[in-house]
Amino acid sequence: MAKKTVRDLEVRGKTVLVRVDFNVPMEEGKITDDNRIRQAIPTIETLLEKEGKVVLFSHLGRVKEEADKEGKSLAPVAEKLSEHLNKPVKFVPHTRGEELESAIASMQVGDILMFENTRFEDVDGKKESKNDKELGKYWASLGDVFVNDAFGTAHRNHASNVGIATHMDEVAAGLLLEKEIKFIGGAVDNPERPFVAILGGLKVSDKIGVIEHLLKKADTVLIGGGMSYTFMKAQGLEVGTSVVEDDKLDLAKRLLEKAEGKLFLPVDFRVAKEFKNDAESRIADFDDIKSDEMGLDIGPKTLEKYSDILQNATTVVWNGPVGVFEFSNFAKGTEGILEVLTSLKDTTTILGGGDSAAAAISMGYEDKVTHISTGGGASLEYLEGKSLPGIECVDEIK
Ligand code: 3PG
Repeated sequence: MAKKTVRDLEVRGKTVLVRVDFNVPMEEGKITDDNRIRQAIPTIETLLEKEGKVVLFSHLGRVKEEADKEGKSLAPVAEKLSEHLNKPVKFVPHTRGEELESAIASMQVGDILMFENTRFEDVDGKKESKNDKELGKYWASLGDVFVNDAFGTAHRNHASNVGIATHMDEVAAGLLLEKEIKFIGGAVDNPERPFVAILGGLKVSDKIGVIEHLLKKADTVLIGGGMSYTFMKAQGLEVGTSVVEDDKLDLAKRLLEKAEGKLFLPVDFRVAKEFKNDAESRIADFDDIKSDEMGLDIGPKTLEKYSDILQNATTVVWNGPVGVFEFSNFAKGTEGILEVLTSLKDTTTILGGGDSAAAAISMGYEDKVTHISTGGGASLEYLEGKSLPGIECVDEIK
């Protein structure tokens, strides 16, 4: 069944509570990647066009005690949003109380207000993160309708998503949440085939659920990145000083058996003796890594082989870089995969959030793939086939 979205809402003159995920990276008070802010704009603009009053809220970072609040105010985020919208965004530096309530009560149609980091409520008994009933009820009392657009937080059962939804008559998805459901949910539940998954990243242990689920759903699974070496060692190959999870060798063996030929490992690597960008490196075949070498990227034969497989794909999901892309000398594999993906015609290309999304954005491929997820943990759990509380709490269309 389809979820209700902001398009289905009648919000004229109403106060719309909108949970966004503005948990953006910051350095010294400056936002270093505002993708999540930009991705929330279509929902905000739709609500403004529909003559609603928009109250935004989000968490930022993790807060356990008073001292953790330092540097985690959403004030710079409100400022950044205001720049993007070219409209004032009133920021209220509280998560509850009279100042917040009267600021909301005096809003006019077309106004936007953002209140303080919802996790500031965690200082006093983890009220936000433990989905404290009173807190969810209180926040719900501040508005007429609830819109959840925070895909990045959809795997959390918190007061600011599930808690509010429990106390609201009408709960809709924002356009970003809708897009994530359409692309990530759609790829996993009902992909157009051939469906190829590329899985990279450092550890097998971080992706066990995703590998198992995608082995059931995808036609082919291509492995890259640090996790390759655990799979290789599990088959008795020399991997030198490459990163390996020795306690996951049996699991890797089992996954390879289960895969029944669907899972492909790199056939060559760029290897070096040191973990640094300017380390001397060479290309080694999969059975030619020396005991003092570590693999830091996939090699050209692997890229060619994966590229051939990807040419026939109709749906591709990629999660996790295939090399240490943060080092420019070991980013060729990751960039090569991006180049292949963006050259495919009529193929839906979906990037799970986290590092592969960061790589695509930093390398300038943001607008060339079909969808880049804004979720890190949320997109991983969604790719594992889990149902996410932040999606479950949205009304179905009757
Ligand atoms: C994320 O960045 O993955 C989300 O914003 C969730 O943050 P959390 O892991 O602190 O709940």
